[in-house]
Amino acid sequence: MATKPVPPGLQVRLRRVAKQAMKHAHAPYSKFRVGAAILLANGKIFSGCNVENASYGLTNCAERTAIFSAVAAAGPKIDVRAVAVVNDHGVPCSPCGACRQVIYEFGPDATIFFEGANGPQQAHIAELLPEGFRL
Ligand code: THU
Repeated sequence: MATKPVPPGLQVRLRRVAKQAMKHAHAPYSKFRVGAAILLANGKIFSGCNVENASYGLTNCAERTAIFSAVAAAGPKIDVRAVAVVNDHGVPCSPCGACRQVIYEFGPDATIFFEGANGPQQAHIAELLPEGFRL
């Protein structure tokens, strides 16, 4: 897979957009606000935040909110090139397993920017989700 690198300026912009979206999080239960921004191959950027629910399991993570918003706005042919994830605790936070599978569906070659154990980190989606499921 030949991943086209995301230029540093665009990475900064993605993080900024993710931070902005994070402010809209509905996280009264975990108090852990998360924001995500996705970059599409056509250059468009969409964002999302986590939306929790009193029935905890219904929570939607920021990454999935961003992808579902993009699909709702632009249709299912979106090509996700990159995903940036930020949180309001400044702690390591990579996409959960469910989000990895959803990212893989629309961005099998996507680069993920997230807070790792030693600071900002990036990884290919296939590193985070080996053998992702496809139909
Ligand atoms: N969460 C996200 O939105 N994205 C992640 O990458 C990790 C976890 C949310 C889900 C829940 O609302 C809160 O963070 C605590 O798990």
